[in-house]
Amino acid sequence: MLGPRKSIEKLAQRESGHSLAKTLSWPHLIALGVGAIVGTGIYTLTGVGAERAGPAVILAFAIAGAVCACAALAYAEMATLIPAAGSAYTFSYAAMGETIAWIVGWSLILEYSLACSTVAVGWSGYLVGWLQSAGIHLPAMLLVGPHGGGIINLPAVLVALGVMGMLIAGTRESATLNIILVIIKLVALSIFVAMALPAFQSGHLEPFMPYGFASTEIEGQKRGVMAAAAIVFFAFYGFDAVATSAEEAKNPGRDLTIGIIGSMLVCTLIYMAVAIAAIGALPFQQLANSPEPLALVLRQLGQPTAAHLIALAAVIALPSVILVMMYGQSRVFFVMARDGLLPRSLAKISPRTGAPTRITLMTGLSIALVAGIFRLDEIAELANAGTLIAFMAVGACLMILRRRSPELPRLFRCPQPYVVGTLTILGCAYLLFSLPDTTLVRFGAWNVIGLLFYCLYSRSRSDARQDAATA
Ligand code: ALA
Repeated sequence: MLGPRKSIEKLAQRESGHSLAKTLSWPHLIALGVGAIVGTGIYTLTGVGAERAGPAVILAFAIAGAVCACAALAYAEMATLIPAAGSAYTFSYAAMGETIAWIVGWSLILEYSLACSTVAVGWSGYLVGWLQSAGIHLPAMLLVGPHGGGIINLPAVLVALGVMGMLIAGTRESATLNIILVIIKLVALSIFVAMALPAFQSGHLEPFMPYGFASTEIEGQKRGVMAAAAIVFFAFYGFDAVATSAEEAKNPGRDLTIGIIGSMLVCTLIYMAVAIAAIGALPFQQLANSPEPLALVLRQLGQPTAAHLIALAAVIALPSVILVMMYGQSRVFFVMARDGLLPRSLAKISPRTGAPTRITLMTGLSIALVAGIFRLDEIAELANAGTLIAFMAVGACLMILRRRSPELPRLFRCPQPYVVGTLTILGCAYLLFSLPDTTLVRFGAWNVIGLLFYCLYSRSRSDARQDAATA
């Protein structure tokens, strides 16, 4: 029922011809992690989190960060054991069989594509605010989708299409560009904290948890610390960038542990500092509905230049998060098509750029469409649902393969694998069920469509199934 499994030995072999130079040490890995992680989650979803949890959004960041740290450790061991493209999908194929791998791959498609749409909408919020503060006003109908009374969020569509064009042209983010963008993002957030903290009013932190801890429905909306954690969880993913660079680490055991835990710790601390500064400066209700909450705080504090700068930093740096995620998306799609589970014609590589053009075009257009029409929090929540399933699968793969194949070489060994694996699964499950019911229903519907496609199309065309039948 679970379908055939891929052999880990075969997966490892596929990549063994290309070994990468060992040039990275833990400071590089932390930079890589922070570069891929810091984006719309902190720049925009802080406001949504504040609406859901009140001042306790600060705690929500800590909870989401702790769960992601466990997932990241599990991910790192799996990435070094199976250094093949496709991440959680490929790990699940080896550990749990094709059916679960399909569900995970289908969830990853949702994760990556909707994460791109979310960041595109967040980018648009800062761009529009930035232009407005410079006296440039675009037609309101073109700045928000039908949910907000407009026609389309055109800037979000354009940034998604722009990044798609770059990927089709074969662009990959370079290490130098990453460092520059990391510096821009961190300097902007530091300026924010330095400007907002002096305006801190402890009264804004009370009551700290106006909606309690567990996610509960209040006035038609899921609220509470866990409801906020389930959405600000978005701010943490992207660390796969660190885990997948294991082969290039000089001393993987040490560098990856420090790199992963370090980038999670750095991000969690930055996020908590930003959240404390924002909540201390303005009553949380004011942050809630802003498409650019950090710039709003600075403007309200009478710091228009700093607000301008932080918006500019977001406008410059956020497209790189879309680039990393869209790249990841096209690769998952590509591997699934290569395995025969999606139409193989999609996996065609352009001889000129080496990139899977058709897939990139298809995913880029869908991402732009979703970004143009839907609401930021709804897209982010659905992306989170997909990611949580993938993280749970990685936690399970870690434990299953430790038991089944303890002898296989692992460049990085996760400390206390059974504790970390169990915490990953339980933590992600708690976050998943803290999401709004509508998100869970939509996620269920996405999976029903996926499973129908799998049963009607993919099963009979799967390479692994055909290999198993002829063996
Ligand atoms: N963690 C990334 C962000 O917040 C996806 O934009």
